[in-house]
Amino acid sequence: MTSSTDKSAPQAGARPSRAAIKAVRGTRDLLPDQTPLWNRVEAAARAVFSRYGFGEIRTPVFEATELFARGVGEETDIVSKEMFTWEDRARAASEKAQSLTLRPESTAGVVRAYIEHKMGETGALQKLYYIGPQFRRERPQRGRYRQFWQIGAEVIGPPSSGSESPLRDAEVLEMLASLLDELGVRDWRLELNSVGNADDRARYNVALREALAPVKARLCPDNQRRAETNPLRVLDSKDEQDQEIINGLPKIADYLGEASREHFAEVRAALDACGVKYHVNPRLVRGLDYYTRTTFEFTVQTGLGTQNALLGGGRYDGLSEMLGGPKAPGIGFAIGEDRLILVLQEQAKQDAEAAGAAAGEEKLDVYVAPLGVAQNAAALALAKELRREGLSVEVGDGSFKLRKSFDVADKVARAIVLLGEDEVASGVITVKAFATGEQVKVPRAELKDRLRVR
Ligand code: HAM
Repeated sequence: MTSSTDKSAPQAGARPSRAAIKAVRGTRDLLPDQTPLWNRVEAAARAVFSRYGFGEIRTPVFEATELFARGVGEETDIVSKEMFTWEDRARAASEKAQSLTLRPESTAGVVRAYIEHKMGETGALQKLYYIGPQFRRERPQRGRYRQFWQIGAEVIGPPSSGSESPLRDAEVLEMLASLLDELGVRDWRLELNSVGNADDRARYNVALREALAPVKARLCPDNQRRAETNPLRVLDSKDEQDQEIINGLPKIADYLGEASREHFAEVRAALDACGVKYHVNPRLVRGLDYYTRTTFEFTVQTGLGTQNALLGGGRYDGLSEMLGGPKAPGIGFAIGEDRLILVLQEQAKQDAEAAGAAAGEEKLDVYVAPLGVAQNAAALALAKELRREGLSVEVGDGSFKLRKSFDVADKVARAIVLLGEDEVASGVITVKAFATGEQVKVPRAELKDRLRVR
């Protein structure tokens, strides 16, 4: 809306507008009051991954569009509607014009890297993990963003490395259960299914097409198209009016061949042996085309509302070949890190409410307060000394009134150190711990030990 007072409307001879620029829809800033939890989650994930023999891989955030078209599938919502894609012009003789896309997920990029670096030629099973942003142009809501973070892992290798073994599937699922337990996620639920191998899927597709033909006209336009091009995608349609028809469609479980049924049974037996609870959900086909055999999602009841899928994954035994690589069966998953954080924050809030306390915030070890401008330099030197000892320190300014120093210190630190002319001269320093209110004078050499006591 433009009015005569609208500051953003350019005016003749006026200086350019200075309207504040906001973060783009569906993207967010993570500020220092939030990032400690993100770092804790990432550190826990890295520690668990390393215990299971995974190494980190970092792939580019943008790739050739064709990678996702071929890998994730043209008919998926991700590729057909949600990608940030642009035509990149050639700028030098050595460059080609090409269509590029911000990665909507990382499995296709990891498998591309596996092929490009001939990682299969070592003969060994590759266990790779990644932590990074992904991009999908979805309608933003709680737990759904256009830039979001995933913590994911892939196990991939030539069949001779054991990459097809049901043990791999069970190990990945047991690792996820352990990670969620370690992080304290309380009410997770593992939904499990098998979508069969390529032959099973071909038979199932025929059955789906047959079942869809007489009801097609009653489906929404998107599902009418999918019924022709990729009937499996009708199953993960969120169109509410189509759900009744979808619920009546044949189930993949009835089309699994002997080999797929056996593989799935062995995955379940290994999970039972490890005590990992699961619920077989025959409707779980997942929204990406590369899946074969085992598919899964972990959902939660607390904190996510309708976006209750905390993570998803499965096997992708033909993906490497689809991308022009050697036979390299694999299985992996991606955790929605934004969603995991929401769940942990919600749980912490509930716990704090139950305990009648405010959710805990992290504080620095000490605030060093110079009592006059003349002590500023000495305060900075003392802060340096304490930081070298591993303490976290904030330094005030000698122009502050003592009252203000106490107020600021109480907000950010567990203790305050007062540094006046006497303290600098005598080397005996006044410390006050806020939790107890205790104020003592200690020799400078003992200060670090006193501050470490919590
Ligand atoms: P996905 O199910 O598309 O699978 O995404 C995995 C998880 O990422 C979801 O369960 C959800 O928690 C999170 N997620 C997805 N979209 C958004 C969004 N717009 N905002 C916030 N979080 C989101 C994959 O991406 C596969 N690459 C997983 C995989 C790895 N399969 C095999 N290996």
